[in-house]
Amino acid sequence: MNPSVRFSIACLLPAFLLFAQLASAHPGASSARHPNNCSINEHPDVTDLDGVNYLRHVHSARLLSGHNYRYVHYRPYNSSKPSVLFLHGFPSSSYDWRRQYDYFASRGYGILAPDLLGYGGSDKPGNVEAYTLKNQANDIAELLDCVGIDDMMIVAHDLGSPLLSRIVTYYPDRSAKYVFLDIGYSAPPLGLNAAGINALNARSLATEGYEPSGYWAFFNETGAGRVLDAHQDSFWSVIYTDDDPTYWRTVYGPTGALETFIEADKMAPTGGFVSDKDRDIHNRIFAAKQGGYDPCLNHYRALYRNLNLADENAIPHSAVNITKPVLLLTAAKDPIGTPARAEAGTQPYAPDLRLQQIDSGHFIMLEKADEVNDAMRAFFES
Ligand SMILES: *[C@@H]1O[C@H](CO)[C@@H](O)[C@H](O)[C@H]1NC(C)=O
Ligand SMILES: *[C@@H]1O[C@H](CO)[C@@H](O)[C@H](O)[C@H]1NC(C)=O
Ligand SMILES: *[C@@H]1O[C@H](CO)[C@@H](O)[C@H](O)[C@H]1NC(C)=O
Ligand SMILES: *[C@@H]1O[C@H](CO)[C@@H](O)[C@H](O)[C@H]1NC(C)=O
Repeated sequence: MNPSVRFSIACLLPAFLLFAQLASAHPGASSARHPNNCSINEHPDVTDLDGVNYLRHVHSARLLSGHNYRYVHYRPYNSSKPSVLFLHGFPSSSYDWRRQYDYFASRGYGILAPDLLGYGGSDKPGNVEAYTLKNQANDIAELLDCVGIDDMMIVAHDLGSPLLSRIVTYYPDRSAKYVFLDIGYSAPPLGLNAAGINALNARSLATEGYEPSGYWAFFNETGAGRVLDAHQDSFWSVIYTDDDPTYWRTVYGPTGALETFIEADKMAPTGGFVSDKDRDIHNRIFAAKQGGYDPCLNHYRALYRNLNLADENAIPHSAVNITKPVLLLTAAKDPIGTPARAEAGTQPYAPDLRLQQIDSGHFIMLEKADEVNDAMRAFFES
């Protein structure tokens, strides 16, 4: 199948009233048709987000592909500043960039943070093909046109990183700089399929003593989403635990371990960087009545079932490198997306690379928001 597995692997996975008024001055009616035929809804349903401080910045757009995306949007209040496109991973949404919005908006940057396909307030198609990286990259490019963003930087975390990797491939001139958080670049051809995941698990078991990506086989199963829906608090506690690396090594990574843990409704220790309120909002965003977890598992299924194969094989070797500056921020305490794997997958293909390790678990933009924000801003302004 796809022998050259390049491991950037793994993944799962306000005090600003004054400028908020400036930055949120969206003109026009509540639904407007744009020259490129997408249509924007200024006031989509946001009941799941009740309690966040950026509600007025949440809009949605229906694209020519037919897909509707909900997103967080701030126009740059300083016209010489770029916009930052944020691509979340699993099981996240635009909500997991909440500690970036005020920081960048108050410094004049624009922001676009979509709920990716299958998540939050965006469409949740049931056909797995919709979730190939090429289809998603085309959607994101269309969304940028629709919202009207030219000058920009792109930031990705976790499963957003493979998507960013193909935005780099298919739209190499769209962004001036790229930031990969925790999970690095995936050079073509992609190794994130069943063969690649099995090989990673076997190698890591032999060399490091644990399987990091056993949950992929579970997420590929029809019905996995219903299990996550039925044990939401337990699943949330594993995902956002701040007791890394213990729990992810023993409860998330090994084949079969996650299902066993959450079906027993066990709880991993949380505290530190997320609150009960954060959990409640997350749980509403992923509530079963809003579609639950199953649609977003299609991101794993499209990868695992190798639905990107033909697209990957069509990418010329000459397109393997990233020609723009790259910042890779790794998470020292993430046993799944380890710094070593992220670096090994990125360094050979990013001639202009800055590397920085953050003393954090997987969700570095939440756990070490100040440090990560400062590092990204220094990179943007360099
Ligand atoms: C927008 O729709 C009109 C009418 O359907 C069509 O003629 C035009 O080519 C479309 N524009 C784009 C950019 O697709
Ligand atoms: C706008 O951004 C530019 C470029 O970063 C900077 O030089 C300028 O001082 C900023 N202006 C304001 C009013 O913040
Ligand atoms: C993933 O799930 C599908 C649907 O159940 C199944 O046909 C396929 O064999 C699974 N893929 C792998 C690699 O296990
Ligand atoms: C990619 O960049 C590396 C340097 O980082 C260089 O050695 C290699 O030749 C480049 N590959 C291609 C296909 O341009």
